[in-house]
Amino acid sequence: MIIDEGWRMMIEQGVLAGFPVRYLERTGSTNQVAIDMTKNGAPTDTVVAAESQAGGRGRLGRSWHSPAGSNLYFSMILRPALPPEDLPKITLAAGLALCLAVEKVTDLSLMLKWPNDLLLDGRKLAGILAETVNIKGEPTAVVLGVGLNVNAGAAAFPADLRERATSLLIVTGHEYRRSELLAAIVSELKRQLRRFERSGFNGILAEWRKRDATLGRELTWLTRNGGIVRGVSLGPDDSGQLLIKDADGKIHEVLSGDISLGPVHE
Ligand code: BTN
Repeated sequence: MIIDEGWRMMIEQGVLAGFPVRYLERTGSTNQVAIDMTKNGAPTDTVVAAESQAGGRGRLGRSWHSPAGSNLYFSMILRPALPPEDLPKITLAAGLALCLAVEKVTDLSLMLKWPNDLLLDGRKLAGILAETVNIKGEPTAVVLGVGLNVNAGAAAFPADLRERATSLLIVTGHEYRRSELLAAIVSELKRQLRRFERSGFNGILAEWRKRDATLGRELTWLTRNGGIVRGVSLGPDDSGQLLIKDADGKIHEVLSGDISLGPVHE
């Protein structure tokens, strides 16, 4: 097992790359801890990191498999200077930041699947869950949660995930220092957010589009109310919403729900 002195120092000192870190050996969900801390006035940029999660959560009410000792599970408290309508775009900005940071540390090439998946060799390496924190009815903060599969071997994944998920170890055959990855990711997240606040979303979106794993490919969209839309992905529009063109030429804006590559398995 790789020695990660930076991880030990982060736990001891409560700081990584200049960001305050609340480290938990085991928790339900780092997003939930960070949401509670936000409501209690925790400082912006606080990072909540856990060794394992008993109730790690993903998008659409799914769970996030979070075994101990090998991966990254963390949430960051952000209070971006952006209007509420821009908050959903933060997931895309975060996806780009995650790609750039992991690529810098590993030399790998990563792709993105709208809205929040990082893909490596076509399998899911990481996911992002951004949750808005409302205080007195106003969206005042965003808790950005990231799960990144780092040093987990194939045996660490339950059978139903093995086909669809991967880790840095599985693909490269070697282990990575989580402290190095986490420091690179939180620094890049802040860089992309500052860019968003200062220069708008267009530059970020242009870079996101270059990594779009599903552009021009056949997709199935399972809508929230149980509908099925099949079509070809046109990628995200200028507001970050995914567009799908069906066989009749009708363009659908994906509002929520799930997309999968290829035709649906019925
Ligand atoms: C997804 O792909 O559906 C999003 C997964 C997000 C998982 C991370 S792990 C750390 C943070 N805490 C949570 O409960 N979820 C996020």
